[in-house]
Amino acid sequence: MAVDILKISKDAQEAAKKHKDVINASIGMFYDEEKQIGGMPTVSKAIKNLTDEEILPYPAVDGGATFKKNVISWVLGKYEHEIKEKMFVNACATPGGSGAIASTFSIFSKPGESIFVSNIRWQYERFADRAKLDVFEHNLFDGDQFDMVSFKEKLNELCKIQKQVIVIINDPCHNPTGFTLSEQEFKGIIDVLNEMKHNDIVFLYDLAYLEYSHEEDNRKKITFLPLLKSHVLTIIGFSGSKTFGAYGLRLGAAIMLSVNETKVKDAYPKYVNEARGSWSATPTVSIELFNKFSIESNRKEFNHDLNKINSLVQERSQSFISQAKEIGLKTHPFRSGFYTVVLTNNPETDYLKLAEHRIFAVPMSGGVRFALCSLSKNEIKGLPQKIKSILNL
Ligand SMILES: Cc1ncc(COP(=O)(O)O)c(C=O)c1O
Repeated sequence: MAVDILKISKDAQEAAKKHKDVINASIGMFYDEEKQIGGMPTVSKAIKNLTDEEILPYPAVDGGATFKKNVISWVLGKYEHEIKEKMFVNACATPGGSGAIASTFSIFSKPGESIFVSNIRWQYERFADRAKLDVFEHNLFDGDQFDMVSFKEKLNELCKIQKQVIVIINDPCHNPTGFTLSEQEFKGIIDVLNEMKHNDIVFLYDLAYLEYSHEEDNRKKITFLPLLKSHVLTIIGFSGSKTFGAYGLRLGAAIMLSVNETKVKDAYPKYVNEARGSWSATPTVSIELFNKFSIESNRKEFNHDLNKINSLVQERSQSFISQAKEIGLKTHPFRSGFYTVVLTNNPETDYLKLAEHRIFAVPMSGGVRFALCSLSKNEIKGLPQKIKSILNL
């Protein structure tokens, strides 16, 4: 279902010029309780304080040695040393997590092939269309759990058709459902990928919402990556947009990891080439901003802002989910994150019905997605009831 989320958001903004009661739950951007974007003052301040030298020159195509070192350290966190002992690691800057996804599709697939995705997902087909690829789906849920049986069966099927397979896992805080895999489920996925040893597996691990997970240790699952065997290349898609609440800067990275040195060695120049031949280079501003926040003292200040908005996002989601539960409004299994999906019978017409009542949300397979990150607590109060009444659920 290829709806244009940016267009729905624009419609909501237009409606808001005429009406005070517009609920714009269409897009994954954090707004504070006063409906202002930029809930991280440390980030806004750092952007404004960048010098000409940190903005104007061309950057290195891959982001440069400092950026690469910093982004790898950021994502792997306290497990960096342990992982680097077991895996070969490299990185390339990309314009947002989107750049990591688009380049991975372009590098590791041939037109007519399929990427492996869950039936409920973010809009990976937008990137697939551009690369002339189809999607091959597994079922995401079995009750409240990840459907491992479908994941295995369907991947087996695709692996018989295609030698090289890109497998996408979006975790934690899955978009659109807010589901987060348990450690056991993540290990289960790794076991299945290891079983496909006659194939070349590219495991695209989209952790755009890494910092918004409310797991005890949000990087623990990364420590299982070294269990992946030599036929698997992992590409971590990092999103600076979500991490820093700086959506228009276009900051991201593709981090390549494998126990197989050749896989990483071969992949790195392909990413650099892909970047040079498409977007040319990730904006200097983004790279320099990231490098600033990789300095220990700045990181501490940033973490303070991040914790604040992270708690608020979770409060909003919990409020929505508990109200929904009370009135019997069904959602997909939710754990944390920016979004939740209300299950409805006709998503394509239901989101239009909601828009008539000035509630802007996005149709997805099986329901309508609400970006709770952009609503205030006040707007969320009573919202599940309104949705239930409008849609007769
Ligand atoms: C699941 C997921 N992955 C990746 C992205 C890419 O974000 P960006 O390109 O802005 O970093 C998004 C953005 O909404 C997302 O929801």
